[in-house]
Amino acid sequence: MKILYSIEECISWRKSALGSVGFVPTMGALHQGHLSLVKIAKKNCDYTIVSIFINPTQFSESEDFSSYPSMLDKDIKILKEELIDAVFIPSENEIYNKKSDDYFYETPLSNKLEGITRPHFFKGVTMVVYKLFNIVNPTHVVFGEKDAQQLIIIKQMIKHNKSSITLISGKTIRNKHGLAHSSRNAYLSVKEQKEASKIFQSLMLIKRLLDGGEQNSQLLKNEFVKSIESIAAFKLDYISIADIETLDEISKIHKKKTLVSTAVFFKEVRLIDNFIY
Ligand code: PAF
Repeated sequence: MKILYSIEECISWRKSALGSVGFVPTMGALHQGHLSLVKIAKKNCDYTIVSIFINPTQFSESEDFSSYPSMLDKDIKILKEELIDAVFIPSENEIYNKKSDDYFYETPLSNKLEGITRPHFFKGVTMVVYKLFNIVNPTHVVFGEKDAQQLIIIKQMIKHNKSSITLISGKTIRNKHGLAHSSRNAYLSVKEQKEASKIFQSLMLIKRLLDGGEQNSQLLKNEFVKSIESIAAFKLDYISIADIETLDEISKIHKKKTLVSTAVFFKEVRLIDNFIY
């Protein structure tokens, strides 16, 4: 596995990779969720490259940029074992140098759901992903369904820019209690992770009610709120039942695809999860 620390090295590696190139962008602290995306890239492409870059522009000043879990040596070891072709680990100076084009993708979708609490977030994400796409020049990219809104916005950005990149999505991977794997789980003890799985169980309560024919969104949201209130350390950021294309809240569930998504603070740790109905 080639370890590429500079843009120049990455571009030169890309020139030598003749065939399809699957790219998995990450911020490191790799877990089972990331590895499932790597496996998808490997299955679909001749070459697989992962990037590790904790992107400052997607964090606000009050967020956890400085304490975001970083375990580079462990990540490199894990990726070597996955037998991927290359890992790109650029520095902040290289990605955000003065000469670089700070393009970001603007869409009304960025102001909804996650964007309400994190107004800066999708500006930063689309900025770094656009830069990484230009450097890595992949034929395929793999994004996880846990970050549903990110996935939807990147898909739209690719289409908007008439890029030929094929986006493949990977299912959310969960621990045995149902908690979605996330780098931020590293902030929680094993006991807390078990408690945090209540978020997924409460989403599944909504799913069971939907399966039983319930269509009233407000009632479904109320049941979710009641369910997560059983964990005192939780603070609900949002529970949303939205049209998957516009991300606008819907009051009555109809046959179109619906995104049921939530963000919950467990003490200071912000956890997100969702399912599509
Ligand atoms: O999903 C993530 O880990 C990040 O938002 C991404 C896509 C790597 C951009 O920094």
